[in-house]
Amino acid sequence: MITGAVADDGWRLGPPYDADIEELMQWFPNARSVDRWSGPRFRYPFTPQSFRHDCRLDEVHSYCLRDPDGAMCGFGQYYDRDDRGHLARLITHPQMRRSGIGKRLIRMLISAARTHSGHTRYSLFVYKDNGPAYRCYLSLGFVVQEYPDDAPLKGKCYFLTWEDDLPEA
Ligand SMILES: CC(C)(COP(=O)(O)OP(=O)(O)OC[C@H]1O[C@@H](n2cnc3c(N)ncnc32)[C@H](O)[C@@H]1OP(=O)(O)O)[C@@H](O)C(=O)NCCC(=O)NCCS
Repeated sequence: MITGAVADDGWRLGPPYDADIEELMQWFPNARSVDRWSGPRFRYPFTPQSFRHDCRLDEVHSYCLRDPDGAMCGFGQYYDRDDRGHLARLITHPQMRRSGIGKRLIRMLISAARTHSGHTRYSLFVYKDNGPAYRCYLSLGFVVQEYPDDAPLKGKCYFLTWEDDLPEA
């Protein structure tokens, strides 16, 4: 089982529990917000069952970010894609955006992917019209790369990558 991590200031990255998934389901007001987050194949309206299934919770590494009081503030996943830790379904609490939580979530997810899966290279997809997310990733040092031939949504999304500063072992 993948365990989490605790930052010096008490923020935690850990596995999502059933109550966290119920909370996460409250963060999507409409179909567009779900599509932006997870792509067009994620069903909406969702049921608890379809939501869990479409999140692929049983197949990919899934994490919640909690503040020092234990409140869930973010959710994200990674899986192996072409020898990279590929980040997916990144989201922060709708009422807490633009306060640094997104950057924290991604940094801690990258750290988890490094610790648990040995990744030193990372990637993600983002819709070209998702300005907040795109700027967030650029501010962390992600760079736009040529779009993979085998990936869907070509023309609609950017493919971004980031590499550890540390030399590979
Ligand atoms: C993308 C997302 C995770 C960012 O989370 P966040 O908690 O707002 O991120 P942060 O507060 O750490 O912001 C980091 C940087 O992103 C950029 N940014 C974030 N929101 C922005 C906005 N509304 N407008 C412009 N830039 C924005 C800024 O550069 C910001 O740094 P700054 O505040 O120092 O200028 C959040 O907007 C979200 O959950 N969106 C809905 C789901 C989604 O679209 N996920 C992405 C799927 S690919």
